[in-house]
Amino acid sequence: MSSTYTKSNDTQEVERLNLQHTFIKHGFNGNFAAPVDQILRSGVRVLDVGCGSGTWILELAEEYPNSHFVGVDMSPVVLRNKQPDNVEFITHNVLTGLPFEDNSFDYVFARLLSGGYTRRQWKEIAIPEYTRVTKPTGWVELMEGNIQLKYNSKDNFKDVDLIIKAVIDLLNATDVHSEAAYEIKGFLEEDNRYNNINYKEKHLPVGPMGEKLAEMGIEDCQEIWKLFKPAVVPLLQVSEEEYNAIYESAIQYLKTFGAKWVFARAWGQKV
Ligand SMILES: C[S@@+](CC[C@H](N)C(=O)[O-])C[C@H]1O[C@@H](n2cnc3c(N)ncnc32)[C@H](O)[C@@H]1O
Repeated sequence: MSSTYTKSNDTQEVERLNLQHTFIKHGFNGNFAAPVDQILRSGVRVLDVGCGSGTWILELAEEYPNSHFVGVDMSPVVLRNKQPDNVEFITHNVLTGLPFEDNSFDYVFARLLSGGYTRRQWKEIAIPEYTRVTKPTGWVELMEGNIQLKYNSKDNFKDVDLIIKAVIDLLNATDVHSEAAYEIKGFLEEDNRYNNINYKEKHLPVGPMGEKLAEMGIEDCQEIWKLFKPAVVPLLQVSEEEYNAIYESAIQYLKTFGAKWVFARAWGQKV
């Protein structure tokens, strides 16, 4: 099964993912929400699906030296430092199935994959595969963010609206979720093989300037919009200069008035 995900993890993308990782980690006060701290301490097998730059794994591998961590991504992970002994990275397209035996992980984590799966692929491939490789009583945790930001006055935010609407139109054209944060709990429920399903939603700040997390939010948003620029400019039928003016104005509104970015975590225990 081919993937709609087009961004390879080059140096620039790795930096963007690391910034995003820090924003989310601080916004949620931690790297995960499932009640796995004890088992990670005692020593278990953990899978990070679509591990990106590998930062989440590397932080956990250091904190939990008794556990073994496997990261899977279709883009190869390039490390700056020596790979820790309790970490393994595999280059693989998840949509062709996970390359692991049934019931082989105690904790499966998958964060910000919505750009890589269509609705159908979520339900028919991704979730069933996560469930298959998780041991009975093991945990699966999903985390996603929405593309649509929350703000009060649409008038003030018309340039923000213009960019976001174009990005959503692009994603909708390939049937990729733009509001996946609202759906992840439902995915686990629909699978029918989970107990103790939980959901935590946070509205993280994107501006105004003056607060560290809110400033990180703006930076993260800027980077995502830059990523979409080559596709958004022709869609909006504007020149590059016109787009740059829209973009600057949108960022200025975020810096001045601020908006909220919806992120959510859902986790459940396999029966
Ligand atoms: C937005 S990044 C998130 C990375 C990481 N999970 C994080 O939270 O920092 C999405 C990652 O999923 C990977 N990805 C997307 N579709 C995939 C697929 N079908 N199989 C494997 N990896 C995939 C991409 O290569 C990319 O590294």
